[in-house]
Amino acid sequence: MKHLLSIADLSPTEIHSLLELTDHMVEINHRPIPKVPALRGKNVVSLFFEDSTRTRTSFDTAAKRLSADTMNFAVSSSSVNKGESLRDTVETIAAMGVDAFVIRHKSSGAPQMITRWTNASIVNAGDGWHQHPTQALLDSYTIRTGLNRRDGFDGLHIAIVGDIKHSRVARSDVQAFTALGARVTLVAPPTLLPPSIALLGGHDWPVDVSYDLDAVLPDVDVLYLLRVQRERMDDALLPSLEEYSAMYGLDARRAARLAPHALVMHPGPMNRGVEMVVDPAELPGSAILNQVTNGVAVRMAVLFTLLGSGSDLRGDA
Ligand code: NCD
Repeated sequence: MKHLLSIADLSPTEIHSLLELTDHMVEINHRPIPKVPALRGKNVVSLFFEDSTRTRTSFDTAAKRLSADTMNFAVSSSSVNKGESLRDTVETIAAMGVDAFVIRHKSSGAPQMITRWTNASIVNAGDGWHQHPTQALLDSYTIRTGLNRRDGFDGLHIAIVGDIKHSRVARSDVQAFTALGARVTLVAPPTLLPPSIALLGGHDWPVDVSYDLDAVLPDVDVLYLLRVQRERMDDALLPSLEEYSAMYGLDARRAARLAPHALVMHPGPMNRGVEMVVDPAELPGSAILNQVTNGVAVRMAVLFTLLGSGSDLRGDA
């Protein structure tokens, strides 16, 4: 594996192996000194052309725990603001000696394009509405450990609720969850579904669709809430946020109808009072902070798979 651009590029076996390697990274993260020399001498550069807190710091932490050198490049303080092209930016930094670029970009396909301009490995940390593969891996890992499903998700029912249309997380999660064997139901108002799904009839997503959260709730093993992405909506897709919240928000009444074992997940950042009306700290099934913790371990597994050389995970840094 040279790049991680999309979940669609991974076979179920490759997803399972990454999740197994993540177990090992979790064990490293529990040590008193959570650091190994596996990627010593490797240079991992984050290029984030879109705002991010958790994904950028998560990759940075992951690279440091494997002893890689890291560099963060924030567009707000870069020559991109002087009119430099994406290609010139990448080629300039690559010329300093880079082993992997972690890329977030508002345009779908930008990470794929960058693979043509450098020999470094490319990790997609979110491109437009398209893909966010490490999010799908950390979500899969959280379900795997949270519901004790090491062998796969056969028989699990996962509902993904909310702004599916603009969500790279939903696209990646659907691919990962179904590859592992789960049944996925998308729950959203028609205006927040991708047009191919909203217009009734044939679509090629391997999912069920419902407009009615209350009907789906009692049957799910995982309730995955998405953020309403107001910054990506260029027209009025919702009558109002209050109305969205009344139909699709997780309030105490809805939370009480979940099965006792069900997990509640969210990729963050959360809109409290919109999709998340209850305080998640009061939900027994909330796995939201586990997702964040697992994100570091999953990204360690990804970076090690792309840049490591087999046997050097042992030892202390
Ligand atoms: C998501 C993203 O940026 O794609 N957040 C994240 O990576 N944790 C989801 C979102 O912004 O709603």
